[in-house]
Amino acid sequence: MEIKSVKEFNDGIKSILINEKQIADEIKKAGKYIDNIYDGRPILLVSILKGSFVFLADLCRAVSVPCEVGFMCAKSYYNGTQSSGIVNITMDLDQNVNNYHIVIVEDIIDTGRTLNDVVKLLKARNPLSLTIVTLLDKPERRVVDFKPDYALFTIPDEFVIGYGLDFGELYRNLPYIAIFDESKL
Ligand code: IMP
Ligand code: MG
Repeated sequence: MEIKSVKEFNDGIKSILINEKQIADEIKKAGKYIDNIYDGRPILLVSILKGSFVFLADLCRAVSVPCEVGFMCAKSYYNGTQSSGIVNITMDLDQNVNNYHIVIVEDIIDTGRTLNDVVKLLKARNPLSLTIVTLLDKPERRVVDFKPDYALFTIPDEFVIGYGLDFGELYRNLPYIAIFDESKL
């Protein structure tokens, strides 16, 4: 998207929904939740790009047990409102997962389609276990029946930006989560 000035950029930020302190506090708790998965066998934090890169960076530093990180980029295709189950991996993990406890680290679950497909795909690779941790959950928007194991925040049906989340590839660098003001652009 084309934004010509810093003012125009700032005008897209309607209001702060979740501030930096709230994010930091919830990440500490999520780190402890992941610590509890550890049973002596390896944990792999799988970040679904791009939106979750900021969250992963903070979350992995709140985990105090041995863990590895991996990255995946996935796109799903649908006919109508039904998930086709066909997920196109544009970048895959570079490790075998069948000896790992996988923790999927996602930025936001909206319709649930993408993650539903990613979970099917990763389960087929026979990990030791699979846990879904999402920064944000927007349950009102769901079209497939899908629940994360752990959501740091449940939010209303608003388009949000910041802390990794974008509008037209911009705003990922905001340190907080804000509601996007589409009327301003
Ligand atoms: P879904 O759950 O398959 O609909 O896809 C979720 C993906 O859509 C997320 O990983 C985001 O990349 C994107 N997305 C959904 N809602 C928002 C939002 O409010 N702000 C920014 N990106 C969003
Ligand atoms: Mg995403």
